[in-house]
Amino acid sequence: MDPPTPPLFRDPLASPSSKALDLDEPVRATDNDAALARLSAVRKGYLVDPFIIHFVPRAHLQPPRPPLINIGTYIRGTGLDELVESFIGLATGQGKKAQIVSLGAGSDTRFWRLHAGTSREHLACYIELDFPENTTRKAMAVRKSKVLSAALGRSEDIQIGDGGTSLHSSIYRLLPLDLRLPPSVSLAPKLAPILDPSSPLLILCECVLAYVASAASDAVLRWFADFSSSNDGVTGVIIYEMFGLEDSFGRVMKNNLKSRHVELPGAEPYNSLDSLRQRFFRLGFEEARALTLRDFRRTHISVTEQMRIARIEMLDEVEELELVLQHYAISWGIKLSAKQANAWLEWGIAEKSDEDWIP
Ligand SMILES: C[S@@+](CC[C@H](N)C(=O)[O-])C[C@H]1O[C@@H](n2cnc3c(N)ncnc32)[C@H](O)[C@@H]1O
Repeated sequence: MDPPTPPLFRDPLASPSSKALDLDEPVRATDNDAALARLSAVRKGYLVDPFIIHFVPRAHLQPPRPPLINIGTYIRGTGLDELVESFIGLATGQGKKAQIVSLGAGSDTRFWRLHAGTSREHLACYIELDFPENTTRKAMAVRKSKVLSAALGRSEDIQIGDGGTSLHSSIYRLLPLDLRLPPSVSLAPKLAPILDPSSPLLILCECVLAYVASAASDAVLRWFADFSSSNDGVTGVIIYEMFGLEDSFGRVMKNNLKSRHVELPGAEPYNSLDSLRQRFFRLGFEEARALTLRDFRRTHISVTEQMRIARIEMLDEVEELELVLQHYAISWGIKLSAKQANAWLEWGIAEKSDEDWIP
C-alpha cells in the first residue's frame, strides 16, 4: 500500500564524517510514502485529517496518488481508527484512561486527531517511537507548527531532548528507539518510568513490524504485554501489515521493494490470516482476531459510505484492488491480567454492511 519512493543514500566516500552506507534509510523513507498516501487520500476527500499537511514538506506540490492507493489508505485508516476508538471506549467504560504507544509512528497524525475529538479526555498519554532521524524530523515539524504544538499544552511545558531527537509534553512524547534492540536496553529504560502498568495500554503497529525480524518484534510485544498485564493492567495490540507474500503477487511486491533496498523479514512467517492470529496466542494473548482489508471493505463499511467512496474517483480495476487488499490485514489481540473483566475480549470492529453492495 506504500510503495517506497527511491531512497536517498548517503555516499560513504562523500566526506570523512560519513560512516557507512546507511542501510536503514530506505526503511525510514517508507514513512514518506505513508504520509504522501495519506495526504492524497485527504485531498481527494476520502479521509478528514487537517494535520497531515504539517508533516509533508511542500505539501501543495505533491501529486495525488492513484485511486487504488487512495482507497487502500482510506480502508486501512478507517479500520485502525475504529479499533483505537473502540479500545479507548472500553477503557472509559471501566473508568480508566487509555495509554497509547505507537511503534514506528513516522508522520502519523493519530494523536492530533484523537486530541481534536471526544477521545481527548480519555487519553492518559500518547507515545510515539521511531528511528532518531524520523523523530528529529517530526519533533521539528511539531515545534514549527502552531496547530500541532497547541495540542501539547503551553510552549514552556514542551521540551526537546536527546540532541533534538525526542520531544516531551505531559500528554504526548516522541522518543527515538530502534525496535530491533532487546527491550531490556531499549524499551525498559525509556518507557517503564512513564507508563502506568495498571492502566489499559494500546500498542499500535501500523505498517512497521514487516520491516523488523519477527524474533525482535515478538520480544517487543512480549515486553509490553508482560509489563502491563502482570500489574493488573490490560494490553491491546493492533498490527497492520502485509501478509501471504508467497504467491506471485507477493513475490512481485518483494522484488519491487528489494530493488529499493527494502526487505520484509517480519512478513515472512505470516502466510495466512490465521497465522496472524496465532502470533498473539503464541505470545500469551487471550483473544486475537484478524481481518483482511478486502473483507473490511466488504463487511465493515456501510453501504452509504461505500457509495460516497465510489463517487470520488473512477476505479477501473476492482479485481486488482481486491487482490491488493487481500494481502494486507489488520490483526489485534488482547492480553489480560487475572483481575480484568472479560468485556475486553469483545474488543473489535462492528460489521456494517446491511446489503451486498460492492462495485
Ligand atoms: C511505512 S512507515 C509507517 C509510518 C506510520 N506508522 C504510518 O502508518 O503512517 C514505517 C515506519 O516504521 C519505522 N521503523 C521501521 N523499522 C524500525 C525500527 N527498527 N525501529 C524504529 N522504527 C522503525 C520507519 O522509520 C517508518 O517511520
